Amino acid sequence: MSEKATLELNGQKYDFPLKSGTENETAIDISSLRNSTKGIITLDSGFKNTGSCESAITFLDGEKGILRYRGYSIEELAEKADFLEVAYLLIFGELPTQEQNLKFHNDIKAQSVVDEDVKKILDAFPKTAHPMGVLSSLTSALTAFNPSSVNVNSEEDMYKAIVKIMGKFPVLVAWTLRKKNGLPLDYGEKNIGYVENVLKMMFKQPNEDYVQNKVLIEALDKLLILHADHEQNCSTSTVRIVGSSHAGLFASLSAGISALWGPLHGGANQAVLEMLEAIKADDGDTKKYMAKAKDKNDPFRLMGFGHRVYKNFDPRARIIKKAADEVLEDLGIEDPILDIAKGLEQEALKDPYFVDRKLYPNVDFYSGIIYRAMGIPTDMFTVMFALGRLPGWIAQWREMRLNNEPIGRPRQLYVGATERSFVEVDKR
Ligand code: SDX
Repeated sequence: MSEKATLELNGQKYDFPLKSGTENETAIDISSLRNSTKGIITLDSGFKNTGSCESAITFLDGEKGILRYRGYSIEELAEKADFLEVAYLLIFGELPTQEQNLKFHNDIKAQSVVDEDVKKILDAFPKTAHPMGVLSSLTSALTAFNPSSVNVNSEEDMYKAIVKIMGKFPVLVAWTLRKKNGLPLDYGEKNIGYVENVLKMMFKQPNEDYVQNKVLIEALDKLLILHADHEQNCSTSTVRIVGSSHAGLFASLSAGISALWGPLHGGANQAVLEMLEAIKADDGDTKKYMAKAKDKNDPFRLMGFGHRVYKNFDPRARIIKKAADEVLEDLGIEDPILDIAKGLEQEALKDPYFVDRKLYPNVDFYSGIIYRAMGIPTDMFTVMFALGRLPGWIAQWREMRLNNEPIGRPRQLYVGATERSFVEVDKR
């Protein structure tokens, strides 16, 4: 393959070097474009054709439905690893030894208490506040209580900030749910696993011991692994660009949480359940909703379907769909919503509109069915997505800072008014 791409413009030729990745992807490095063409830029709404960085963390092949974290397939990791191992792998690049894993978990446990004054911020929110808005605010507020987490330039300072947020974030997630349920804000236990502690903090009733359920532990561990990273998606790109100004890790994560909240992104898992509930209330009329999704005049989209990168099945959706069956069976739950979801999937996979546009179920299509079976309220689903995505955001932020990436500042094509003079108000 040639080493360069040539652009011909107004009779002039401009050469740009090609870069190859380890999975034989090719990028045209256009970093010299504006200078060499004296001002010409590219335009790519939604960055569908534009790479923002070189990254060694996650590889996706949308056509083949491949997802790997640091070279390990999502199928193997979901089957054989636990969430904290995957978090370590994403952040530091290698699966941890037993000693490294133990130290990482102990360092996280040592940081798993949140300043009591954070409860005063939480108390100020109405019970009806959306949990994603609460979580984003509390995450940003953590900066005020941990000022040393802001100016992290050394790997050691970065590590301290990382274990701080890995320890405190699950507490904020649990407190956000407990606030909604009118329960006291407390902690779990230090001598249990990371995921076990999340479940205990979320669900322990003040007047009884919390009994762990192996099915729920395994289901949540798997869901968190499946959500842990996904290369340069909307919220990760947000974390990176905010961090590129050298804003602190917690402030960058808070911005990522807000981006994930959107129904086109992480908020889709909540929107899927609301859609399935609406279909169920409409006598299971899936054909009506399929028609709405295909109607260009109707803003309705089939939530949980389609993906910017996957033009094949989202490998995570396959794993979650199987897990949904297993969890419901293990918990002895008959959920008609699951049957509606499967019916909708079967119809869409045969419908030319979806087939022609390569619209398949994505990670959000089935995940809500498991969260609901676990007793998690619908508007907390995206909070659970954020809990899973936390190590991926951290890994991407750390890579961006260690690579000394420049501050993110895109250009634009100006299409507004050309120069004109001010008009006094009595002459307008
Ligand atoms: C996540 O990027 C990531 O990696 C995200 C994520 C991660 O792990 O971080 O994987 C998590 O966000 C998953 C996606 C969750 N969102 C949804 O399920 C919402 C429903 N999906 C769509 O809104 C849409 O598919 C997107 C936003 C996911 C992707 O949109 P794109 O890539 O911008 O595609 P597009 O809007 O240009 O759609 C192409 C065509 C259009 O029709 P035409 O103009 O060609 O006629 O497909 C249609 C769209 O109208 N289309 C849909 C559809 N998704 C796309 N039509 C109906 N229902 C849908 N769901």
